[in-house]
Amino acid sequence: MYLSLPPGVPQPADRVCAVWPRGTVGARQDGPMSIFDDMADTWDDKPDRVERTRTVAQRLRAALDFTDIESALEYGCGTGQLSFALADVLPHCLLMDSSVEMLKVAERGIAERALPWDTERRSFAAHSPDHPVAITDLIFSLQVLHHVDDLDTAFTNMATALRAKGQLAIIDLPVGSAGFHRGSKHNHADNPHLDGLDPHDLEQRLAAAGFRDITWHDDIALVRDGDDGPVPYTLFLVTARV
Ligand SMILES: C[S@@+](CC[C@H](N)C(=O)[O-])C[C@H]1O[C@@H](n2cnc3c(N)ncnc32)[C@H](O)[C@@H]1O
Repeated sequence: MYLSLPPGVPQPADRVCAVWPRGTVGARQDGPMSIFDDMADTWDDKPDRVERTRTVAQRLRAALDFTDIESALEYGCGTGQLSFALADVLPHCLLMDSSVEMLKVAERGIAERALPWDTERRSFAAHSPDHPVAITDLIFSLQVLHHVDDLDTAFTNMATALRAKGQLAIIDLPVGSAGFHRGSKHNHADNPHLDGLDPHDLEQRLAAAGFRDITWHDDIALVRDGDDGPVPYTLFLVTARV
């Protein structure tokens, strides 16, 4: 179910109209509220997040081939800022997230920019028969997968959603990033990968899901605003194709 349809925008032929049935995702995302719902309205107020988006967008421009992309999908889009930063090279983008409140903010961003884009509430980590097939040329995801418990299911559903030769880009915390969520409401019972993702493990999972040309790019060095001042941290960038 799409949460928005910008006025006057025709439906693309490949428009997905899949519903995310309640009960098909983990309890963390299935309730009416999640931690991310609570954070949605103020998510973009933090300058370190704005800077992260800007830096990651630059790195994606360098790492990906945007020439033949008709349709892209940002998985775990949050408020959509990363996709908006790439709007000039994304004719269509589906902003996908499991948080209703994040998607509401993303929809406002789509409307303000008059983009012919869509949003969808979905978890690729959920076992569901209605995940989309061959709808997009590019899937990208920034700091989402360390919150996803079933990575294998998520990668399989991403591979299925990509068209032939479709590209995948994952930007996330490397294993050993325990400090990143210190003091946050996230907990390991709900998030088995909360301390970051192991590159070797990730590569094996991607290959098993059907991805090839798995390429590790230079790490992305960033700084976040900690309680006691700036805290440096690193993200990895890995790209692949189906
Ligand atoms: C750390 S935030 C990052 C948001 C955005 N990518 C950014 O960098 O600003 C993680 C996002 O992933 C979403 N998310 C978490 N688990 C998810 C899942 N299983 N499926 C889809 N989205 C998920 C959350 O709702 C949240 O918007």
